[in-house]
Amino acid sequence: MLTFLLNGETVEAEVGPTETLLDFLRDRRDLTGTKEGCNEGDCGACSVVVTGQDGIARAMNACILLMPQLSGRAVRTVEGISGPNGELHPVQRAMVDLHGAQCGFCTPGFVTTMAAAHANGATNHEEQLAGNLCRCTGYAPIIRAAQAASTQSVPSWMEESSIEAKAPFPMPQTSDALAEWYSKNPTATLIGGATDVGLWITKRLQDLENVVFLGRCADLQQIEVTDEGLRIGAACTITQIMEAVAPLYPSFAQMLRRYGSEQVRNAATIGGNIANGSPIGDGPPALIALGAVLHLRKGDIRRAMPLEDFFIAYGQQDLQAGEFVEYVTIPKQRDTVKCYKLSKRFDQDISAVCGCFNIVVAGGSVAKARIAFGGMAGTPKRAIHVENALIGKAWNEDNMEAALLQFPQDYTPMSDMRASAGYRMQAAQNMLRRVFVESLGVPASVHEVRP
Ligand SMILES: Cc1cc2nc3c(=O)[nH]c(=O)nc-3n(C[C@H](O)[C@H](O)[C@H](O)COP(=O)(O)OP(=O)(O)OC[C@H]3O[C@@H](n4cnc5c(N)ncnc54)[C@H](O)[C@@H]3O)c2cc1C
Ligand code: FES
Ligand code: FES
Repeated sequence: MLTFLLNGETVEAEVGPTETLLDFLRDRRDLTGTKEGCNEGDCGACSVVVTGQDGIARAMNACILLMPQLSGRAVRTVEGISGPNGELHPVQRAMVDLHGAQCGFCTPGFVTTMAAAHANGATNHEEQLAGNLCRCTGYAPIIRAAQAASTQSVPSWMEESSIEAKAPFPMPQTSDALAEWYSKNPTATLIGGATDVGLWITKRLQDLENVVFLGRCADLQQIEVTDEGLRIGAACTITQIMEAVAPLYPSFAQMLRRYGSEQVRNAATIGGNIANGSPIGDGPPALIALGAVLHLRKGDIRRAMPLEDFFIAYGQQDLQAGEFVEYVTIPKQRDTVKCYKLSKRFDQDISAVCGCFNIVVAGGSVAKARIAFGGMAGTPKRAIHVENALIGKAWNEDNMEAALLQFPQDYTPMSDMRASAGYRMQAAQNMLRRVFVESLGVPASVHEVRP
């Protein structure tokens, strides 16, 4: 039995392990305000407000949120955004007053995303709403409505917290409990944020009976800043990581701001982003450039490796049955990291090329270079030849241009719908040019981060 709060009321329901919140709301509760647009996390029409153990209200996509992930959490759909006596929430009032709706299909998703941002005091409205698509393209009045509502206080009914609930499916509360359970059930599917697994269900129509959820593993959701550096638990979300790395490695945080959307970042975990082995995942190239070490665990046995060694070939990772990603460590270092994401759209798009550079120049020469790319090979991969061409040489244009010639030694990119091989190669080389130009204090782009 799953227990959670829905629009302020305690709900107890028998649910399947892979039943989505969107289906539950629409098919079983008749809450049809939450819309199905894409059913894959891309359009935001299904957005709801979810408050978890940390008491923070976050926008999430109901279409790829599995019911067990909600155990003990508080969910508000568009039907629960207005007050108990029907009074409009400030974002609803502003949407009416400022003409924020046209056909109205996207409106419930916008309203819930805006209500979550409003509850948190977020005023970066474009960024908050980048995961909500309006087919009528009524963005300007919607942004104006978000701005107008942000001056109003949070209504009392929006202040919620999570509740005590018994876990309906395997949901270990510590990494020790997870290690023990998973070593005995090595064929089970681990579920972090379900931003990949959710699509196996909604698009590939897979039935997953044997699952284990990481959402309650408190120690896997911790980020520690120590004298040695950063220790990031595998179940930390991209949102958590963005906040933690912003003061240390701002370029990494700026790149993560273009990872999916607010809704996706609130769900996706770094463990899932690494374990899926995607060649176009945005976390691994930056972590590899930072010299991250991956810590794996199976039962009581732990092993660690440089993150780049985990990716063996396309679809093949160095992970045994019953073994899981426990955490990642980043050694303490000065900020010399530059991360660039190139995708067809600025927001809510997967990288065509993601290049991350950690080049340390001392006394005019390159003392250290760690460079890694996504989108340039079958795995996230280091540019060893390029690095070697730079290390020990003077950091000047001639040597940088000479290093560019080494790219074909490191990469043979492919052509696909995102980019041709030639474009990828050119773009990757241009990213190194950009690092060089920026190191001279010349801004390479006015569009790096939108205001
Ligand atoms: C709309 C949308 C936009 C996206 N945009 C981006 C983007 O811009 N950049 C990007 O990099 N990705 C993007 N993704 C992909 C996705 O968000 C990431 O791959 C994500 O990090 C996966 O994490 P998760 O916790 O959701 O993984 P899940 O879906 O929960 O799991 C993914 C895989 O990892 C396994 N797994 C999970 N946790 C662990 C663990 N601790 N140890 C071992 N195995 C584990 C699961 O069993 C599964 O095989 C996007 C996805 C969607 C739906
Ligand atoms: S229906 Fe499009 S994000 Fe959920
Ligand atoms: S108002 Fe029509 S889709 Fe946004």
